[in-house]
Amino acid sequence: METKRKIIIDCDPGHDDAIAILLAAANPKIDLVAITTVAGNAEVEKTTLNALKVVEIAGITDVPVARGAGQPLIRVRETAPDIHGDSGMDGPELPLPTIAPVNEHAVDLIIRKLLESDGDITLVPTGPLTNIAMAMRREPAILPKIQEIVIMGGGTFGNWTPAAEFNIFVDAEAAKVVFESGVPITMMGLDLTHQALATQDVSDRIAEIDNPVAGFIGELLVFFRQTYRDVFGFEDPPVHDACCVAYCIDPSVFECKKLHVDVETKGEYAYGMTLVDIHGVTKKEPNVNVALTLDREKFWSMIIDACKYYG
Ligand code: RIB
Ligand code: CA
Repeated sequence: METKRKIIIDCDPGHDDAIAILLAAANPKIDLVAITTVAGNAEVEKTTLNALKVVEIAGITDVPVARGAGQPLIRVRETAPDIHGDSGMDGPELPLPTIAPVNEHAVDLIIRKLLESDGDITLVPTGPLTNIAMAMRREPAILPKIQEIVIMGGGTFGNWTPAAEFNIFVDAEAAKVVFESGVPITMMGLDLTHQALATQDVSDRIAEIDNPVAGFIGELLVFFRQTYRDVFGFEDPPVHDACCVAYCIDPSVFECKKLHVDVETKGEYAYGMTLVDIHGVTKKEPNVNVALTLDREKFWSMIIDACKYYG
């Protein structure tokens, strides 16, 4: 039998983070080893509470949730209430979780799981990279033990500033540590994730699936669609973070190219920009596998199958 791909999702739920977790928990090719949380879309207290709610509705309370960094490494924290609401996951009404985070910091859990492993764990950060950078600095011995890092972040344009995508902008110093670590990285930037638009047709297909998790995902998309219409003028919301898990399930759903990517940490206007060297003008060695195109039908089929799994 094909071995499952072991992943740790480091996230800031977050509507699309929640869908990423639910996709991972439902797919037979994934072994969701742990969930760690970080400040991003909302304060870490809120993103942790949201992660616990998602774990509970998914029925995966055996998956440890560890709370992580509440502040970026250097900069003052920024959150995204205009996109995700004050709770970080506004819209659906879920009961308060009956479970708690484990009594271990996210950074320590990531280090421990990696050192205990055979080097077969993929890190899937879908929020700011603060925890990942802290783990690398706290214990460099984890670097050869990380199979791959599949990041949602960056791109050739921004959504928080004209230059910077939110996850990178919140902690560009952490992103620089990760992008320069030498660990194999696949980047799901905005150029890719803006192809993963949850159209009304997708929502209608999900609405036909009668179970509480499908209903929850449907409600997430209703809220997310409205904020993307209000804030960005998008017809439909991009489910950014689920692209990372979809890649771990089936990389053939994506076309990628090895490119050099630098992270700007000094720019007055370009702080948090990922400089994707599409034409190789820097002559620097490629350090990132950049996802460029998405097979939409295969992607959405994965999401629909995940919704059906919870029936
Ligand atoms: O820019 C989009 C990213 O920022 C997504 O991961 C979203 O959840 C927010 O964290
Ligand atoms: Ca996120």
